[in-house]
Amino acid sequence: MEDHRFLRALRREPVDCTPVWIMRQAGRYLPEYRSTRARAGSFVNLCKTPELACEVTLQPIARFPLDAAILFSDILTIPDAMGLGLSVEEGVGPRLARPVRTRADIDRLGVPDPETDLRYVMDAVRLIRRELDGKVPLIGFAGSPWTLACYMIEGEGSASFARAKALAWDEPATMHKLLDVVARSVARYLAAQAAAGAQALMVFDTWGGLLAPDMFREFSLRYLAQIAQTIQRDAPGVPLILFSKGANSHLEALADTGCAALGLDWTIGLDQARNRVGNHVALQGNLDPAVLHARPAVIRDEVKKALDSFGPHPGHVFNLGHGITPDVDPAHLGVLIDAVHELSAH
Ligand code: CP3
Repeated sequence: MEDHRFLRALRREPVDCTPVWIMRQAGRYLPEYRSTRARAGSFVNLCKTPELACEVTLQPIARFPLDAAILFSDILTIPDAMGLGLSVEEGVGPRLARPVRTRADIDRLGVPDPETDLRYVMDAVRLIRRELDGKVPLIGFAGSPWTLACYMIEGEGSASFARAKALAWDEPATMHKLLDVVARSVARYLAAQAAAGAQALMVFDTWGGLLAPDMFREFSLRYLAQIAQTIQRDAPGVPLILFSKGANSHLEALADTGCAALGLDWTIGLDQARNRVGNHVALQGNLDPAVLHARPAVIRDEVKKALDSFGPHPGHVFNLGHGITPDVDPAHLGVLIDAVHELSAH
């Protein structure tokens, strides 16, 4: 398994062809996902029932020759375990019943114990590893402290997360207190996923790109680096992928955190990103997810362009630049995956 092309690519070792997996590969574009989700009754129930989380994790692996599975869960399991009360409504998105707004709210937060407070996630990881039976490696994940803080303060999605930014400006010490407890929770949760069987780890800093450069360094990057250091100590040898969406101006600093790979969105070329970070991290990405709405011949062309842009070096994991959307025809994803394998084979 150590020899699987996904893990080899993360270590920047030569591979027979470029490995590919897709963010949100277990999701609403798959009819079998919609059917299991309906059986679960709600998204949160689906996440909290290890047998069902395992079932949906394996669905895209059964349908496509993907090179990695990703744990089916959500980044908001940590705020939920901290007592904020997660629900996800169809067509509305995630909501936290008890957002944190004051210093007193934040002072009450503790670091969840993964094997008790998030036991259902650890059980899902163990079950998925057993069911995968060595077929492909399993990725565990968490949200970044900044991205989780955005939801914890706002209580729901937002275009600007202005309330979270205002807290960072008005009461920086309070914001750091929140980010610190969340960062310690994330690092502990990721290390526990690795101990339960996750073979690679990814941090989603989905809202890092909302921050101006100084703010990014102070309120996002610093905590990503802290997590990367803890993972190197507590889960040695388990590669960590950092994905700060919209934060292309910080690629060099992100590559210096001690992570194994950087996730990239589609607003930068793979060639340009590689020139900037050199070969001390692998790169993951980065086709525009909307490419999957184009004709199959165009999808193949775009895959070819991305492979050519990265060039004949080791260290590329193919992915989209963000999650696959619910309105995509699964057959089009099949075209993309086959194109990656065929056009990169050597
Ligand atoms: O990639 C995978 O297949 C693994 C599963 C996964 C989900 N969420 C399942 C999910 C992962 C890795 C996530 C991470 C996540 N969750 C992020 C970071 C990645 C990103 O997309 O930027 C964020 C910001 C969240 C928070 C969240 N959870 C949002 C914004 C939503 C609503 C999405 C929507 O389009 O409605 C969710 C719910 C969610 N998480 C769904 C899935 C498949 C859809 C829920 C449903 O089935 O109704």
